[in-house]
Amino acid sequence: MPLAHLKCTDFRCLESFEIDLDSKVNLIYGKNAAGKTSVLEAIGYLGRGRSFRGAGNKELIRHGAEEFVLVGSVERENTTTPLGVRNGKKGLEVRAGGEKCYSASALAEILPLQIIDPDVHELVAGGPEGRRRFIDWIAFHVEHGYASIWKKFRRVLKQRNAAIKEGKSPDALKTWDREFIGVSEQVDLIRRNIVDIINSSLEELADLLLEEPIELQYLPGWQGNKSLEEALAAATERDLLLGSTQVGPHRGDVDVLFKSRKARKLVSRGQQKLVSCSLVIAATEMVQTHLERPVLLLVDDPAAELDIYSVARLMVCIEHIGCQVIATALDSEPQIFSSPPKMFHVEHGSLVP
Ligand SMILES: Nc1ncnc2c1ncn2[C@@H]1O[C@H](COP(=O)(O)OP(=O)(O)O)[C@@H](O)[C@H]1O
Ligand SMILES: [Mg+2]
Repeated sequence: MPLAHLKCTDFRCLESFEIDLDSKVNLIYGKNAAGKTSVLEAIGYLGRGRSFRGAGNKELIRHGAEEFVLVGSVERENTTTPLGVRNGKKGLEVRAGGEKCYSASALAEILPLQIIDPDVHELVAGGPEGRRRFIDWIAFHVEHGYASIWKKFRRVLKQRNAAIKEGKSPDALKTWDREFIGVSEQVDLIRRNIVDIINSSLEELADLLLEEPIELQYLPGWQGNKSLEEALAAATERDLLLGSTQVGPHRGDVDVLFKSRKARKLVSRGQQKLVSCSLVIAATEMVQTHLERPVLLLVDDPAAELDIYSVARLMVCIEHIGCQVIATALDSEPQIFSSPPKMFHVEHGSLVP
């Protein structure tokens, strides 16, 4: 199972606790400000090496403590893999499988996770960066080698941008273009395929959750009717004027269409949340199918912005894909699940069964 055991020390208001999780559904409940979201944030940190609330060390280390330490274990195919992160004066230290790691991506490989929280609607309502990250999360897990392709793309983009800043002539810029186009086309092809596959699984999900169709429309980061070579040539003057490369996969996006209209323009926050949840569930299912093991889904306060029928449908869809779920709620509300969850109560900075 994704996360079998967790030990947490000095993270946010959480002083110290140790828990064994259920492989299916877990519910963390407690009063306002008891520390429910902090528990999910700690688990998210263990899988990503960063806070999903965008918080830095100063906010994450428990007031008065020097560092926080998170240790977990992941069970798969009869083996247990330990994971650990520590962050304090010495900065982030990551251990995976008993080895010291120099990149947080080792965590993501062992503990793939997705998050549905009250800000999930930002996936449709927010800027393109969140949607690129969403597609790239899938790519990282389902396309072997995507991480190195993406790293190469970033390097070539940086070099091209440096040449632009040095005021190189359009002809001199062309020396970067061949490599830029080659690696961009690799990114483009992978993202394009992912959007196609996600679209096919969105059909059924959208029908269940919203009773209306949802579709993703892929935007490569340059005008779709042009090749990247043509688009780069057409944008060179603008690149030189603005001091950076204006077209390419770093400008890619997806339009989220709900009933064939842009979901970003939907007036209801609840609908935006359901559309975004459909995307997250579809992505989770796609990665699980590829990895042939369940993914962890953190669900913070699912009832926020939703009526009781929508929450019930959302939880049915989540349970249906068979991922490991760790959800939070104000009260012990096992009735939102179809099978009884393992329950934990947060109080006084600790988690107790
Ligand atoms: N670094 C920290 N040290 C101690 N307490 C903190 C720290 N960061 C946040 N808190 C407190 O933790 C409490 C729990 O927050 P949170 O997990 O968001 O609660 P919940 O989700 O249960 O409503 C809040 O009262 C907050 O002020
Ligand atoms: Mg909360």
